[in-house]
Amino acid sequence: MRDYLIAPSILSADFARLGEEVDAVLAAGADVVHFDVMDNHFVPNLTIGPMVCQALRDYGITAPIDVHLMVQPVDAIVPQFAKAGASIITFHPEASTHIDRTLQLIRDQGCKAGLVFNPATPLHYLDYVMDKVDIILLMSVNPGFGGQSFIPSTLDKLREVRARIDQSGRDIILEVDGGVKTDNIRAIADAGADMFVAGSAIFNQPDYSQVIRQMRDELAQ
Ligand code: DX5
Ligand code: ZN
Repeated sequence: MRDYLIAPSILSADFARLGEEVDAVLAAGADVVHFDVMDNHFVPNLTIGPMVCQALRDYGITAPIDVHLMVQPVDAIVPQFAKAGASIITFHPEASTHIDRTLQLIRDQGCKAGLVFNPATPLHYLDYVMDKVDIILLMSVNPGFGGQSFIPSTLDKLREVRARIDQSGRDIILEVDGGVKTDNIRAIADAGADMFVAGSAIFNQPDYSQVIRQMRDELAQ
């Protein structure tokens, strides 16, 4: 069995109590904190930036922080997030003029680098950069909001990317983001995902550990 990582998206957390929320979800068994950055330009919503990432580090959060950039342009914000304590930085290839350079920039800043694919974004962006990505994130909803339904065609896309990763022989994490719930996580894992972002499925329930335990039970089957 592969190692599976559960990454709650803090987009659905109570921002007025963000430190406590992140503590609670980690205590409930989460592996990674998924941090959604939206700029009201690349996506039609506005969220949080490096200051909030730094605030979580200052609060004492030591778990990996997975920064999902939904911003355009990308490069200027990368060093700021690295300095603020990001562990992983992923970006959408359509948002970067020089994809290879941006991937390199992220690694040069000491973070793991990844590309994010919207539901209709083709996989050819991977063609010449498999040696420069540590993580590939497939969006299973159109980015911008939590609480949307999983788009089923993502399963085929996951299988395609899983095959490409296996063929490359590289240690690349396959992450999925959007509409992940306890009742579809098993099918998503079967299609090849290793890392599961879940926002509303976790934060909209009163007992975070119960949801995460259910997800792990599904993954253990
Ligand atoms: C959407 C974000 C997701 C979102 C997932 O643009 O990238 O991370 O928070 O939320 P759920 O799990 O509710 O679909
Ligand atoms: Zn996300």
